[in-house]
Amino acid sequence: MQDYQDVLAEILIDADTLQARVKELGAQISTDYSAEDLLLICILRGGVSFMVDLSRHITIPHMMDFMAVSSYGAGKREAAGSARVTLDLQTDIRGRNVLLVEDIVDSGHTISAVLQMLETRQPKTLKVCALLDKPERREAHVPIHYLGFTIPNKFVFGYGLDLDEYYRNLPFVGVVDLDKYKPAS
Ligand code: IMP
Ligand code: MG
Repeated sequence: MQDYQDVLAEILIDADTLQARVKELGAQISTDYSAEDLLLICILRGGVSFMVDLSRHITIPHMMDFMAVSSYGAGKREAAGSARVTLDLQTDIRGRNVLLVEDIVDSGHTISAVLQMLETRQPKTLKVCALLDKPERREAHVPIHYLGFTIPNKFVFGYGLDLDEYYRNLPFVGVVDLDKYKPAS
């Protein structure tokens, strides 16, 4: 893998700005769900950094669970909209307040499919918290109840988002310089 500094066009959201916004979201969620039971569901793998930091700013008791989906169709239009669960929840969500925590809503197909699937399990409430929103790319309408930042249509990495599975650990969100980046394979 190339050194990230060689493919970084710009830092779009720096670490301090991210942390400040995540703190605000945590405070808002704590207020909105006060006196309610809350279950955070992280969509692996991109949502991990965000959920961990967010959770530390949520001051009410809450649980966490994790799920992974592979969206058929990342880039392949014919299958867009379907998602296959590759790792299911350990928790029964029936009657619970579920908050999905996602790194980014891009086309919207992933979240849309996850929402449809989880809705059938009859949670009490089902809402979406996304760190990033790329509205220019939207194909499926999805509600975003809690949003960190709206971003332009650029490929980003860091803070959970990957560059060919690398660099999820970076504390900022950066834009990939597509002229310099050489994808593996
Ligand atoms: P959607 O189904 O098109 O909304 O895709 C959402 C998923 O694609 C996200 O959960 C990310 O994992 C991935 N994704 C979309 N845009 C980016 C990006 O700019 N960088 C890294 N991953 C992305
Ligand atoms: Mg994701």
